[in-house]
Amino acid sequence: KQSVKMIVGNWKMNGLSADLVEATALADSLSGSAPAARVALCPAATLIARMAWALNGRPIEIGGQDCHTAAAGAHTGSISAAMLKDAGAGLVIVGHSERRQACGETDAIVAAKFEAAVAAGLEPIVCVGETLAERETGQAVALVTVQVAASVPATAAGQAFAVAYEPVWAIGTGLTPTLEQIAEVHAAIRAALVARLGDGGHRVPILYGGSVNPGNAAEILRVAEVGGALVGGASLKADSFLAIIRAAE
Ligand code: G3H
Repeated sequence: KQSVKMIVGNWKMNGLSADLVEATALADSLSGSAPAARVALCPAATLIARMAWALNGRPIEIGGQDCHTAAAGAHTGSISAAMLKDAGAGLVIVGHSERRQACGETDAIVAAKFEAAVAAGLEPIVCVGETLAERETGQAVALVTVQVAASVPATAAGQAFAVAYEPVWAIGTGLTPTLEQIAEVHAAIRAALVARLGDGGHRVPILYGGSVNPGNAAEILRVAEVGGALVGGASLKADSFLAIIRAAE
Protein backbone atom coordinates (compact mmCIF):
# COMPACT_ATOMS: atom_id res chain seq x y z
CA LYS A 1 0.00 0.00 0.00
CA GLN A 2 1.22 3.47 -0.87
CA SER A 3 1.88 5.73 2.09
CA VAL A 4 -0.66 8.36 2.98
CA LYS A 5 -0.49 11.54 0.91
CA MET A 6 0.43 14.81 2.59
CA ILE A 7 -1.71 17.81 1.61
CA VAL A 8 -0.34 21.12 2.89
CA GLY A 9 -2.01 24.50 2.44
CA ASN A 10 0.22 27.57 2.35
CA TRP A 11 -1.87 30.68 3.03
CA LYS A 12 1.13 32.95 2.27
CA MET A 13 0.37 36.59 3.25
CA ASN A 14 -3.37 36.01 3.28
CA GLY A 15 -5.80 35.38 6.07
CA LEU A 16 -7.02 37.28 9.12
CA SER A 17 -8.59 35.96 12.28
CA ALA A 18 -12.00 35.89 10.57
CA ASP A 19 -10.63 33.26 8.21
CA LEU A 20 -10.16 30.80 11.04
CA VAL A 21 -13.84 30.02 10.50
CA GLU A 22 -12.85 28.63 7.10
CA ALA A 23 -10.15 26.45 8.64
CA THR A 24 -12.46 25.19 11.35
CA ALA A 25 -15.17 24.35 8.81
CA LEU A 26 -12.61 22.40 6.83
CA ALA A 27 -11.43 20.52 9.90
CA ASP A 28 -15.00 19.67 10.82
CA SER A 29 -15.63 18.23 7.35
CA LEU A 30 -12.57 16.03 7.80
CA SER A 31 -13.41 14.99 11.35
CA GLY A 32 -16.55 13.14 10.29
CA SER A 33 -14.80 10.65 8.06
CA ALA A 34 -11.26 9.79 9.22
CA PRO A 35 -9.29 11.42 6.39
CA ALA A 36 -6.92 9.17 4.50
CA ALA A 37 -4.53 12.07 3.89
CA ARG A 38 -2.24 13.91 6.27
CA VAL A 39 -3.46 17.52 6.17
CA ALA A 40 -1.72 20.70 7.31
CA LEU A 41 -2.27 24.43 7.02
CA CYS A 42 0.50 27.02 7.13
CA PRO A 43 -1.04 30.39 8.00
CA ALA A 44 0.80 33.64 8.67
CA ALA A 45 2.75 33.57 11.93
CA THR A 46 0.21 35.92 13.52
CA LEU A 47 -2.47 33.27 13.17
CA ILE A 48 -0.59 30.15 14.26
CA ALA A 49 -1.44 30.25 17.95
CA ARG A 50 -5.08 31.07 17.31
CA MET A 51 -5.37 28.42 14.63
CA ALA A 52 -3.78 25.88 16.94
CA TRP A 53 -6.37 26.75 19.55
CA ALA A 54 -9.26 26.66 17.05
CA LEU A 55 -8.18 23.32 15.58
CA ASN A 56 -7.22 21.65 18.84
CA GLY A 57 -8.20 17.99 18.65
CA ARG A 58 -9.14 18.23 14.96
CA PRO A 59 -7.26 16.39 12.19
CA ILE A 60 -5.32 19.31 10.69
CA GLU A 61 -1.70 20.00 11.56
CA ILE A 62 -0.25 23.50 11.58
CA GLY A 63 2.94 24.82 10.07
CA GLY A 64 4.89 28.04 9.75
CA GLN A 65 5.90 29.55 6.40
CA ASP A 66 9.50 30.33 7.36
CA CYS A 67 11.81 30.42 10.35
CA HIS A 68 15.09 32.12 11.19
CA THR A 69 18.38 30.22 11.11
CA ALA A 70 19.21 31.25 14.68
CA ALA A 71 17.57 29.86 17.81
CA ALA A 72 17.12 33.33 19.36
CA GLY A 73 18.73 36.74 19.45
CA ALA A 74 18.83 40.23 17.99
CA HIS A 75 16.89 39.63 14.76
CA THR A 76 14.13 42.23 14.74
CA GLY A 77 11.01 41.06 12.96
CA SER A 78 12.12 37.44 12.64
CA ILE A 79 10.61 34.32 14.17
CA SER A 80 12.54 31.32 15.43
CA ALA A 81 11.59 27.70 14.93
CA ALA A 82 11.17 27.34 18.69
CA MET A 83 8.64 30.20 18.65
CA LEU A 84 6.64 28.47 15.93
CA LYS A 85 6.72 25.24 17.91
CA ASP A 86 5.68 27.09 21.05
CA ALA A 87 2.75 28.67 19.18
CA GLY A 88 1.47 25.25 18.12
CA ALA A 89 3.17 24.48 14.79
CA GLY A 90 4.60 21.05 14.03
CA LEU A 91 5.89 21.83 10.53
CA VAL A 92 7.62 24.70 8.78
CA ILE A 93 8.13 25.52 5.11
CA VAL A 94 11.74 26.51 4.35
CA GLY A 95 13.17 27.81 1.10
CA HIS A 96 9.93 28.75 -0.61
CA SER A 97 10.84 30.34 -3.96
CA GLU A 98 9.09 33.56 -2.95
CA ARG A 99 11.60 33.86 -0.08
CA ARG A 100 14.53 32.64 -2.16
CA GLN A 101 13.72 35.43 -4.64
CA ALA A 102 12.51 38.26 -2.41
CA CYS A 103 14.80 37.68 0.56
CA GLY A 104 17.86 36.31 -1.22
CA GLU A 105 17.72 32.97 0.54
CA THR A 106 20.46 30.70 -0.77
CA ASP A 107 20.58 26.92 -0.51
CA ALA A 108 23.02 27.32 2.41
CA ILE A 109 20.57 29.56 4.28
CA VAL A 110 17.75 27.12 3.57
CA ALA A 111 19.88 24.25 4.92
CA ALA A 112 20.58 26.28 8.08
CA LYS A 113 16.86 26.92 8.50
CA PHE A 114 16.25 23.19 8.07
CA GLU A 115 18.67 22.48 10.91
CA ALA A 116 17.12 25.17 13.11
CA ALA A 117 13.68 23.68 12.48
CA VAL A 118 14.77 20.15 13.35
CA ALA A 119 16.56 21.39 16.47
CA ALA A 120 13.29 22.93 17.63
CA GLY A 121 11.33 19.75 16.95
CA LEU A 122 9.67 20.94 13.74
CA GLU A 123 9.36 18.97 10.51
CA PRO A 124 10.73 21.06 7.64
CA ILE A 125 9.19 21.13 4.16
CA VAL A 126 12.03 22.14 1.85
CA CYS A 127 10.98 23.84 -1.37
CA VAL A 128 12.91 23.54 -4.62
CA GLY A 129 12.05 24.34 -8.22
CA GLU A 130 13.27 25.87 -11.44
CA THR A 131 12.41 29.19 -13.05
CA LEU A 132 10.83 29.39 -16.49
CA ALA A 133 14.18 30.33 -18.05
CA GLU A 134 15.81 27.31 -16.42
CA ARG A 135 12.99 25.04 -17.66
CA GLU A 136 13.19 26.45 -21.19
CA THR A 137 16.94 25.93 -21.37
CA GLY A 138 16.66 22.31 -20.29
CA GLN A 139 18.19 22.80 -16.85
CA ALA A 140 15.22 21.87 -14.63
CA VAL A 141 16.41 18.44 -13.53
CA ALA A 142 20.02 19.48 -12.98
CA LEU A 143 19.03 22.62 -11.08
CA VAL A 144 16.58 20.87 -8.80
CA THR A 145 19.09 18.10 -8.11
CA VAL A 146 21.64 20.69 -6.98
CA GLN A 147 19.04 22.49 -4.85
CA VAL A 148 18.13 19.27 -3.04
CA ALA A 149 21.75 18.35 -2.41
CA ALA A 150 22.55 21.83 -1.08
CA SER A 151 19.31 22.61 0.81
CA VAL A 152 18.93 19.30 2.64
CA PRO A 153 21.71 19.07 5.25
CA ALA A 154 23.69 15.86 5.54
CA THR A 155 22.36 15.63 9.11
CA ALA A 156 18.85 15.09 7.72
CA ALA A 157 19.23 11.29 7.63
CA GLY A 158 16.71 9.90 10.08
CA GLN A 159 14.89 13.24 10.49
CA ALA A 160 11.25 13.67 9.54
CA PHE A 161 10.98 16.13 6.67
CA ALA A 162 9.46 16.58 3.23
CA VAL A 163 10.59 18.11 -0.05
CA ALA A 164 8.24 20.17 -2.20
CA TYR A 165 8.87 20.52 -5.92
CA GLU A 166 7.45 23.87 -6.96
CA PRO A 167 8.37 25.11 -10.44
CA VAL A 168 8.54 28.88 -9.98
CA TRP A 169 6.62 29.46 -13.22
CA ALA A 170 3.74 27.26 -12.04
CA ILE A 171 3.13 29.15 -8.79
CA GLY A 172 -0.06 31.17 -8.89
CA THR A 173 -0.13 31.18 -12.70
CA GLY A 174 -2.60 28.42 -13.48
CA LEU A 175 0.19 26.73 -15.43
CA THR A 176 1.43 23.27 -14.48
CA PRO A 177 4.11 21.02 -15.91
CA THR A 178 2.95 17.95 -17.82
CA LEU A 179 2.53 14.80 -15.74
CA GLU A 180 5.64 13.45 -17.48
CA GLN A 181 7.64 16.52 -16.44
CA ILE A 182 6.44 16.16 -12.85
CA ALA A 183 7.40 12.48 -12.87
CA GLU A 184 10.84 13.27 -14.29
CA VAL A 185 11.67 15.88 -11.66
CA HIS A 186 10.25 13.85 -8.78
CA ALA A 187 12.37 10.87 -9.85
CA ALA A 188 15.43 13.13 -9.90
CA ILE A 189 14.60 14.45 -6.42
CA ARG A 190 14.20 10.90 -5.14
CA ALA A 191 17.59 9.98 -6.60
CA ALA A 192 19.18 13.09 -5.05
CA LEU A 193 17.68 12.23 -1.64
CA VAL A 194 18.95 8.66 -1.80
CA ALA A 195 22.38 9.85 -2.92
CA ARG A 196 22.47 12.26 0.02
CA LEU A 197 20.84 10.18 2.76
CA GLY A 198 21.09 6.56 1.70
CA ASP A 199 18.08 4.27 2.14
CA GLY A 200 16.32 6.84 4.32
CA GLY A 201 15.99 8.97 1.20
CA HIS A 202 13.31 6.55 -0.01
CA ARG A 203 11.01 7.49 2.88
CA VAL A 204 10.95 11.28 2.39
CA PRO A 205 7.62 12.48 0.98
CA ILE A 206 8.04 14.59 -2.17
CA LEU A 207 5.14 17.01 -2.64
CA TYR A 208 4.23 18.81 -5.85
CA GLY A 209 3.23 22.49 -5.66
CA GLY A 210 2.23 25.07 -8.25
CA SER A 211 -1.35 25.76 -9.37
CA VAL A 212 -2.77 22.61 -7.81
CA ASN A 213 -6.57 22.86 -7.89
CA PRO A 214 -9.58 20.58 -7.50
CA GLY A 215 -9.53 19.87 -11.25
CA ASN A 216 -5.93 18.67 -11.55
CA ALA A 217 -5.17 17.31 -8.08
CA ALA A 218 -6.20 13.69 -8.66
CA GLU A 219 -4.05 13.17 -11.76
CA ILE A 220 -1.05 14.93 -10.23
CA LEU A 221 -1.33 12.91 -7.01
CA ARG A 222 -1.30 9.68 -9.03
CA VAL A 223 2.08 10.46 -10.63
CA ALA A 224 4.93 8.20 -9.47
CA GLU A 225 6.86 9.65 -6.51
CA VAL A 226 4.28 12.37 -5.86
CA GLY A 227 3.65 12.03 -2.13
CA GLY A 228 1.30 14.95 -1.75
CA ALA A 229 0.70 18.57 -2.65
CA LEU A 230 1.69 22.01 -1.41
CA VAL A 231 -1.27 24.21 -2.24
CA GLY A 232 -1.35 27.99 -2.27
CA GLY A 233 -4.39 29.80 -3.67
CA ALA A 234 -6.71 26.79 -3.60
CA SER A 235 -6.04 26.29 0.13
CA LEU A 236 -7.66 29.61 1.05
CA LYS A 237 -11.21 28.34 0.67
CA ALA A 238 -12.43 25.30 2.56
CA ASP A 239 -14.37 23.85 -0.38
CA SER A 240 -11.49 23.87 -2.87
CA PHE A 241 -8.93 22.65 -0.32
CA LEU A 242 -11.31 19.91 0.78
CA ALA A 243 -11.75 18.80 -2.85
CA ILE A 244 -7.96 18.49 -3.18
CA ILE A 245 -7.76 16.50 0.08
CA ARG A 246 -10.51 14.18 -1.18
CA ALA A 247 -8.53 13.70 -4.41
CA ALA A 248 -5.69 12.29 -2.30
CA GLU A 249 -7.80 9.64 -0.61
O1 G3H B 1 3.35 27.07 -1.49
C1 G3H B 1 2.50 27.00 -2.37
C2 G3H B 1 2.82 27.30 -3.74
O2 G3H B 1 3.69 28.35 -3.92
C3 G3H B 1 1.75 27.12 -4.76
O3 G3H B 1 0.94 28.25 -4.87
O4 G3H B 1 -1.06 26.89 -5.47
O5 G3H B 1 -1.14 29.38 -5.51
O6 G3H B 1 0.18 28.10 -7.23
P1 G3H B 1 -0.35 28.16 -5.83
